[in-house]
Amino acid sequence: MKFIIAIIKPFKLDEVRDALSAVGVQGMTVSEVKGFGRQKGQTEIYRGAEYTTNMVPKVKIEIAVSDALGPRVVETIAQAAKTDAIGDGKIFVLELGGAVRIRTGEIDDLAL
Ligand SMILES: Nc1ncnc2c1ncn2[C@@H]1O[C@H](COP(=O)(O)OP(=O)(O)OP(=O)(O)O)[C@@H](O)[C@H]1O
Ligand SMILES: [Mg+2]
Repeated sequence: MKFIIAIIKPFKLDEVRDALSAVGVQGMTVSEVKGFGRQKGQTEIYRGAEYTTNMVPKVKIEIAVSDALGPRVVETIAQAAKTDAIGDGKIFVLELGGAVRIRTGEIDDLAL
C-alpha cells in the first residue's frame, strides 16, 4: 500500500476530490495547512491577498491506497491541481505498512 500526501492550492480541493472519486479512491483526510516552497521572500497571491511572508495557506490531502492504484492517484492529483502558476504544490508517496478498518476488523487492502 501507499500513503500519498498532497499539498495543493485550497481552491483546487473540490476538483481534486471529484477526480479522485472518479478513479476509485474511497476516502481521504483533508487539513488546512500553511507552508512555503522555493519562492522564499517572493510574493504569492492567495484570494487577492499578497503573501510576502514565507507561509502561504495550502490544503493537505492524505490518501491510503493499494499499490495498484498508487500511480493513478498521483497522476490524477497532479493533473487536477495544476494551474501552471507557482505554488501549485507537491505530492509525496510513502510506503504504508498497515491499515485497519475499525468497524469490521478488515486489514490492509481490504481496509481501504
Ligand atoms: N520540500 C518540501 N517539503 C515539505 N513540504 C513542501 C516542500 N516543498 C513544498 N512543500 C509544501 O508545498 C507547498 C507548495 O509548494 P510549492 O508548490 O510552492 O513548491 P515549489 O518548489 O516552490 O514549486 P513552485 O516553483 O511551482 O512554486 C508549500 O507551501 C509547502 O506546504
Ligand atoms: Mg513555490
